[in-house]
Amino acid sequence: MSISKESELQGMKAISEVVALTLKNMREHARPGMTTKELDEYGASILRSYGAKSAPYSTYQFPGWTCISVNHEMAHGIPSNRKVLQEGDLVNIDVSAELNGFWSDNGGSFVLGEDIHNHQPLVQASKEILQKAIFAIKGGVKIADIGGIMEREAKKRGYKVIRNLAGHGVGRSLHEKPENILNYRDRFDRRRFRKNSVIAVETFIATESTLAVELDDGWTLIGNRGGQVAQHEHTLVITDDEPLILTASNEIWN
Ligand code: CO
Ligand code: CO
Repeated sequence: MSISKESELQGMKAISEVVALTLKNMREHARPGMTTKELDEYGASILRSYGAKSAPYSTYQFPGWTCISVNHEMAHGIPSNRKVLQEGDLVNIDVSAELNGFWSDNGGSFVLGEDIHNHQPLVQASKEILQKAIFAIKGGVKIADIGGIMEREAKKRGYKVIRNLAGHGVGRSLHEKPENILNYRDRFDRRRFRKNSVIAVETFIATESTLAVELDDGWTLIGNRGGQVAQHEHTLVITDDEPLILTASNEIWN
C-alpha cells in the first residue's frame, strides 16, 4: 500500500508493533525441549491478546499461526507437536498478521542456545545484509539495485542467495505490489521504489542452495542443494531519506 493519510500510518504502526513484539517474545520464549507447536501456540496467544489475526492462517489456510522453520527447513515450516527444539538449532520464526484491515510481516533466524553447529556466522551475515539493503532504499531507487546489494554482500561473505523467494509490498493484504523484491539483481527489472510505499524486505542467505523447493506436505520449503538458509525481514515505509522501520521492536538486529 501507499500511505496517504495519518490514520493509515497509525494503522500500520499498530499492527507492525504487534507482529514485532510477537516475534521478539517467541524468540525469547524458545527453549530446547519445547515443540514448535508449543512455541506457535505461545505466539498465537500474543497475537490474540492484541486482537490481531494470523495472516498465513487467514490468507492461505496455513496449518499454524506462525511459520517456524528448523535447520534444513528454510521457510513455511509447519508448527508440530512432533518437532522438538534442540540446543544449537537454527530456528526461523516468521510472524505476519492483520489488525483493523492493516497487515504487517516480519521474521528472523537465530541459533537456539549454544551455537554447537556454528550457524551464527550465517545468521550474522543475513542480519548485516538486511541492514545494508534497507538503508539503501528510498524513493526513486531501482528495486533491482537492492537485489544487487544483497547478492554482492552475500557473495562477499561466501554465501549464496535464494532466487525464488522475495520481499513484497504489504499493508492492505499480506502480499501486494511491488511483488518480487528479489535477493539478486534482475537486469530486466526497471521498477523503482516509491516514497510512502509499505514493503516487507527479506533476506534469504544460503550456505549451499540457490532455490527453495517445496516438500510433499505442500508447505515446507527446503534448499535444492541442502545446507542452511537464514532469513531476516522488516516491514517499512519508504521515504526520501532513511526508511521508517515499522517492525523495529522485533530487535532482530540486536
Ligand atoms: Co514474513
Ligand atoms: Co514476507
